[in-house]
Amino acid sequence: MTAPPSFAIRGRPLLPIVQGGMGVGVSAHRLAGAVARAGAMGTIASIDLRHHHADLTAQAKHCRDQDELNRLNLVALDREIRAALEIAEGHGLVAVNVMKAVATYPDLVRQTCASGAQAIVMGAGLPLDLPELTEGYPDVALIPILSDARGVAIVLKKWARLKKDGSGGRLPDAIVIEHPLYAGGHLGAPNPAELANTRFDFAEVLPGIFKVFDDMDIARGQIPVIVGGGINSHEKLLAALALGAAAVQVGTPFAVTEEGDAHPNFKRVLLDAKPEDIVTFMSVAGLPARAVNTPWLANYLKRESKLQSVAKADPKRCAIGLHCLTHCGLRDGLKKAGQFCIDSQLVAALKGDLNKGLFFRGSESLPFGRAIRSVQELIDYLLTGVKPDLGGAAA
Ligand SMILES: Cc1cc2nc3c(=O)[nH]c(=O)nc-3n(C[C@H](O)[C@H](O)[C@H](O)COP(=O)(O)O)c2cc1C
Repeated sequence: MTAPPSFAIRGRPLLPIVQGGMGVGVSAHRLAGAVARAGAMGTIASIDLRHHHADLTAQAKHCRDQDELNRLNLVALDREIRAALEIAEGHGLVAVNVMKAVATYPDLVRQTCASGAQAIVMGAGLPLDLPELTEGYPDVALIPILSDARGVAIVLKKWARLKKDGSGGRLPDAIVIEHPLYAGGHLGAPNPAELANTRFDFAEVLPGIFKVFDDMDIARGQIPVIVGGGINSHEKLLAALALGAAAVQVGTPFAVTEEGDAHPNFKRVLLDAKPEDIVTFMSVAGLPARAVNTPWLANYLKRESKLQSVAKADPKRCAIGLHCLTHCGLRDGLKKAGQFCIDSQLVAALKGDLNKGLFFRGSESLPFGRAIRSVQELIDYLLTGVKPDLGGAAA
């Protein structure tokens, strides 16, 4: 059996597997470092990482000052990047995921560069100003997350214009395409009804992207395209590569590995979820999201339309004072968006609180059933199709 070919980002050879960034705190230094150490790209999710640091959590306990909370988050991000690089020992690549929808995204980008991460992956909005923000760091790979060829064309054209103006424009070092029908967390479609639109299928999106490359005289292979959402087997990895992808991005299966940074209860919720337990709904960020229908979410969804009908703009509705999102459905009174505090709910899930947590998850089954296995075993399986002996835990 021949192993699928590796690909390269900024000249670094990598296994064709990318671990997607998962907030809040689900992919921190332990997971991203282990994935990089195995020779692949591991991604730390930059949002609100202070919850992994007891001293920073203590300092933030009674604090409602937005600047101070953000400062503590930057300290946490710095620690997580350095710890992941230490685990990786020069192997693979340590990336940081920054969501454009987060109000402090420029600070998170700058901290990522200053702390020595090797790539920035940006989604949840178009990363139009990413080259400018990273101008002093030409060695940091820049990777947008998009869901269709139209988004790719907009980003490429804007970045090319920046180059002409001398404002740091460049080509992306890779592009991640996420399928909203299968991925976990926030989804790149305008509303839940759009998720199943076939325009997001890799077999449609990839040829569209290659046409954009041709039209812009970008050689095939110059920008690796990484596809993600529902990749849970060796066969799906091979099928994605056969369509012209350079690698696959995998989220949920990595979240439940031994090295996954969330509480064991978090992993259990994802592992035990049956297909009918996984739901999509509108998040406060104004995007659809996919998660397990645990008690908090079920209760919220029952009250959703009532809460939306009384939505009103009020800064005091950000009870934790973080004001994490540029546009927040709850704080800004956006009737079509979700009406809950996403940070509090995701932090509760990270800590394993079954009653209060919001547990993001992709739609597909897990490669090792209900078993928790190591990052290395997951990577080996995706590359070779050979599963470890799972005993009874696979059921
Ligand atoms: C628990 C969880 C949290 C996630 N958080 C983020 C995030 O903070 N930023 C992001 O760009 N994508 C996020 N994602 C999406 C993943 O990075 C990945 O692209 C997606 O889950 C791939 O689909 P899969 O889970 O079917 O493999 C999250 C996914 C999960 C399951």
